[in-house]
Amino acid sequence: MTEAEGIVLSGTKDRKPEIVVLPDRAALAREAASRFVVIAHQAITGHGRFAVALSGGSTPRDLYQLLATIEFSSRVDWHHTHLFWGDERSVPPDHPDSNFRMANEALISRIGIPAGNVHRIRAELEPVDAAREYEQTLLSCIQSGAIAESDAGLPRFALILLGIGEDAHTASLFPHTTALRETARWVVPNYIENLKTYRITLTPPVLNTSANIMFLVAGADKASALYSVLRGERRPDKYPAQIVQPTNGNAVWLLDKPASAKLETES
Ligand code: 6PG
Repeated sequence: MTEAEGIVLSGTKDRKPEIVVLPDRAALAREAASRFVVIAHQAITGHGRFAVALSGGSTPRDLYQLLATIEFSSRVDWHHTHLFWGDERSVPPDHPDSNFRMANEALISRIGIPAGNVHRIRAELEPVDAAREYEQTLLSCIQSGAIAESDAGLPRFALILLGIGEDAHTASLFPHTTALRETARWVVPNYIENLKTYRITLTPPVLNTSANIMFLVAGADKASALYSVLRGERRPDKYPAQIVQPTNGNAVWLLDKPASAKLETES
């Protein structure tokens, strides 16, 4: 990232998460794509594979579309890359709300990644079954070497992409929901009362085992939630994105200017 593209509000030197403000969504996507490519290269060079969990919603679409361009897709070894999801809605893969469908349209269908390297959450199953099956998928991928294993025996992703909602949720860890308190399971069904639906989500232990966490946050509508998460009192049950603090990894927040509006500029 050149200085012209982004303002660094805080760096890893002071143990705070790195916060980088980009001028707009396009610059945010480009910064994220550049970092994605670097992490992928480091992972494949160092360990022979790159395991990344994609986020859903709308913000990452620009990133996925950019990664599908020749400028970026030519810099990722997709044959040694394995795609996973941080969460999924309880819908079939062709449903408009499906996180898999969005990533497939924006990225997967446009790159030459082997089908066996794409590990979607089969959220068309009953939530309990979908979660249990995805845990088995993660375990199988550890055993096959597609994902690294942490010292504690958990899947250690090279990168997990995350966003936040206006209520400060991340993945499908919503305020005051049971998944926030999960300490053993890797993947759980999580009932979201406000949405009157189940979601399938990676749990805090897995998120915090990741080598790299990259939050992508864009839009003025996220400014309040972002301020609460980064500058507010520590209340993960109310501001779930606060629960993401990698125990042995890096976290970076890539924001566009409107989303960063309430954050003070630090020296
Ligand atoms: C999902 C995501 C969710 C998302 C936030 C932000 O399934 O919706 O995993 O955590 O990152 O809701 O969504 P937007 O990018 O659409 O604002």
